[in-house]
Amino acid sequence: MKKILINFAHPAKSHSNINKALRKAVETLEGVTVNDLYANYPDFMIDIQREQALCEAHDIIIFQHPFYWYSTPAIMKEWLDLVLEHGWAYGSEGKALENKLFFQVITTGGDASTYQKDGYNQFTINELTSPYQATAKLCNMTWLPPFTVSGVHRGLEQEKVQSQSEDYRRTIIALRDSLFNIEQAKQQPFLNSDINRMIRTP
Ligand SMILES: Cc1cc2nc3c(=O)[nH]c(=O)nc-3n(C[C@H](O)[C@H](O)[C@H](O)COP(=O)(O)O)c2cc1C
Repeated sequence: MKKILINFAHPAKSHSNINKALRKAVETLEGVTVNDLYANYPDFMIDIQREQALCEAHDIIIFQHPFYWYSTPAIMKEWLDLVLEHGWAYGSEGKALENKLFFQVITTGGDASTYQKDGYNQFTINELTSPYQATAKLCNMTWLPPFTVSGVHRGLEQEKVQSQSEDYRRTIIALRDSLFNIEQAKQQPFLNSDINRMIRTP
């Protein structure tokens, strides 16, 4: 069974709709650790040793967050800046993250059609997450496309919140139990583009 670390960042959790629901769908699963960065570090004083130990103890590292200014909430950048040390995460001696899986779980206000070259936001989500792809590569991690829930500005109907939460739960369980087709998923724009085809039955 794979161990999964979810680094969760939402600076206004009490106002969250979709991230709260997604988190609730997976946080009690066996093998899953939710690491709430804003709750643990309200002053941004990240405990580097604790975070590195958490990464070392898990096989899959997820960043779950709302899309803020086409990127992550600020604490995730701080986390990268401090935790991914030379000689630990990268460099000739830095092998701590080697071969671990990495992906983002991103919720966006803009709907999917706005994230196109000729759309309102000009760039695809895949393009906008390229710093994370490059970071994963530098750390010799396996990067997967993000699990994405778009169009949450207008408020998601409860039905969609529930179906996305269920898809997230199924994805996490399949990854944990090595029933997710990683190689096929790499070819998809999103991890949840076609999860029924990605998940194998045991
Ligand atoms: C500071 C801030 C920046 C945001 N930037 C973006 C953005 O760049 N692109 C986008 O699609 N939505 C953006 N949004 C909308 C959020 O992504 C959206 O409200 C969030 O994903 C909803 O998730 P929640 O219900 O868990 O809060 C932004 C919202 C805030 C508050």
